[in-house]
Amino acid sequence: MAVTTQTRLDAQKIRADFPYLEEIFNGKPFAYLDSAASSQKPRQVLEAMDEFYSHSYANAHRGVYQLAERATAALELAREKSRAFINAPDAREVVFVRNTTEGINLVAYAWGLNNLGPEDLVVVTELEHHSNFVPWQYIAKRTGATFKMVPLTESGELQLDALDELTRDGNVKVVATNLVSNSLGTITDVSKIAQWAHARGAIYVCDAAQAAPHIPLDVHALGCDFLAFSAHKMCGPSGAGVLWGRAELLERMEPFLLGGHMIRRVRFEETTWGELPHKFEAGTAPLAEAVGLGAAIDYLAEVGFDAIGAHEHELTAYALERLSEIDGVTLYGPPAERRAGIVSFNIEGVHPHDVAQVLDMDGVAIRAGHHCCQPLMQKLGVAATNRASFYLYSIPEEVDRLVEGVKRAKQLFA
Ligand SMILES: Cc1ncc(COP(=O)(O)O)c(C=O)c1O
Repeated sequence: MAVTTQTRLDAQKIRADFPYLEEIFNGKPFAYLDSAASSQKPRQVLEAMDEFYSHSYANAHRGVYQLAERATAALELAREKSRAFINAPDAREVVFVRNTTEGINLVAYAWGLNNLGPEDLVVVTELEHHSNFVPWQYIAKRTGATFKMVPLTESGELQLDALDELTRDGNVKVVATNLVSNSLGTITDVSKIAQWAHARGAIYVCDAAQAAPHIPLDVHALGCDFLAFSAHKMCGPSGAGVLWGRAELLERMEPFLLGGHMIRRVRFEETTWGELPHKFEAGTAPLAEAVGLGAAIDYLAEVGFDAIGAHEHELTAYALERLSEIDGVTLYGPPAERRAGIVSFNIEGVHPHDVAQVLDMDGVAIRAGHHCCQPLMQKLGVAATNRASFYLYSIPEEVDRLVEGVKRAKQLFA
């Protein structure tokens, strides 16, 4: 190993919390370098969900018996933890959804259909995940609005000085971007974008799916009107996410999903909607999943985002350095200082799927594909890339194993 970590977190102590590390593939310890797709889960989260299912489970906001009240209290405690996690002023603004994708669709449909028209502009970026691209493209088409993209620089960062030019011929009504790119790891100064949007009377929507696991979030400091994230990328379970929105906007919006729990009164003639956040939470909530999200928030707070960020930064800088030493490897994205723990690359003449398969034989899991970012792939002029992504349980030895696998793939296929 060519580097000694000076991590401020104790990776070995953290690794003891993660049962997935007991897995062995092809006789090798498992190196999971696909946390950007979904993170692994610590025992603390698994135990919190098990405890909830075992001793507090009933439907929430329904029954008057004590167990149901316990379930409701657990759900609302998870909402309060989620509120504090993003420094939102009011838990009524925290809507539980299935994931980031559902959160963004909620805004695109429930806000977009009633607020966009043929004179208006919808602005996203070339760096978006499909979840923050396709809903806006679709709603723009349905409402007759014009759909525009902020272009990227060579290093995979947003050309923010192009915003004025892009929006010369229409009213900008919504700007939607990620805070951290899932493909390149680029961290964007979204508060600048939010200020720019607000100065033109537009709203700013933040896709925080890749930011929530790594960066402390503050909806005020970021200047968001809406922000969405998923539990499964931040040590929590799949099936729960949060959409935060400013109360005054949420209150003026029509509901997105209709049915049980989201109503005030249902009559033959007409139905009226419940209060926030219930108006946007039709049907049974992701109960145990929300509890798991709350436990994940506690877990990350205990480790500390400074320590997580410093640890990931070291791993990323190390991976970029080692991979750049291999002839024929192209690295995409900004320097380590301006990216989260994500490294995308290609080996000249070798298909990313072959690279991922060679690595899998060595027990190293990376992602190969378009990463739900086909517009970005189009821009880069490639069909796919390899992507290694790190989290608090990743260690430098795993970067070394990645680099050895890349060299082997090159020998086999190039
Ligand atoms: C930047 C970004 N946005 C949105 C999503 C969608 O998240 P989910 O699949 O949890 O809805 C992802 C998932 O990879 C992502 O990385």
